[in-house]
Amino acid sequence: MTESTAKVRKAVIPAAGFGTRMFPVTKVVKKELFPIIDKDGRAKPIIQIIIEEAISSGIEQVGLVVQESDSQIFTDYFQAIPSYYEKLSPEKQEYCQYLQNLGNKITLLSQSEQVGYGHAVFCAKDWVRDEPFLLLLGDHIYASEVTKSCASQILQVYEQTYKSVIGVRIIPGTEIHHYGCISGNLVADSLINIETIYEKPDLNYAREKLHVAGMKEDEFLGVFGMYILTSKIFDYLEENIKQNARDKGEFQLTSCLDKLQKTEGMTGYLVKGRCFDTGMPEVYRQTMIDFRNII
Ligand code: G1P
Repeated sequence: MTESTAKVRKAVIPAAGFGTRMFPVTKVVKKELFPIIDKDGRAKPIIQIIIEEAISSGIEQVGLVVQESDSQIFTDYFQAIPSYYEKLSPEKQEYCQYLQNLGNKITLLSQSEQVGYGHAVFCAKDWVRDEPFLLLLGDHIYASEVTKSCASQILQVYEQTYKSVIGVRIIPGTEIHHYGCISGNLVADSLINIETIYEKPDLNYAREKLHVAGMKEDEFLGVFGMYILTSKIFDYLEENIKQNARDKGEFQLTSCLDKLQKTEGMTGYLVKGRCFDTGMPEVYRQTMIDFRNII
């Protein structure tokens, strides 16, 4: 089977950053392990909710990119039986088994130096090999507005187009400088034929270059936090790393997405759902409130 027709079986989640925007708590807790109260009422680390989104959408294996020194904490979370196991209710004891089963689907991949999001994705190259894969940000969680989960929606778009897909959402101009942004032509309900991908534009640039016909003034399409990428992305990431082509000191993903789009084409998909950022103090606070209220 060629890559262009292969089923998406793997998901990659980068979780190797320092979490500087969440300092000082990230001195002692990885931001991917911050708690969220999920729809089942359980207090879970963010990373578990992201992994469950992937697995419940049919993904078979998850590659978690972590700092080597953090491997143990992720392994312990999914695999270790807690010392207070006997004090747990039978239902919670059973849940330990569920976590182990989830953990059995995870492969820890190591990023030895923290030199950017693009570099973290590149660390998954040998594990992904030549398959398309679902890429999920390690600090976003999702709530669908329809029966299909957000990840299932973008997987479905890939299965219809066999081109890389970026999930997008509408972002007001006042916030666009925080996000990767796409522009292009709306070709069908919720589908955009992407022409440009640009990381964290200022409002003037966005107004000039990133407006999508048919959308309101000062509204743009920003990254939702989910992508389906073909393995060709690794060639562009490798090229940047070999040439030491950094942006603000780091190897970025977005410039490589732009190259991928120019060679293979790429679809933007306006996801029917909401994404919740947890990577900055104020948005995390708001996510704690909103995520529980809307689901
Ligand atoms: C990353 C991506 C950016 C995306 C954002 C969402 O940036 O590079 O395209 O919009 O996540 O939060 P970061 O937040 O890691 O700076």
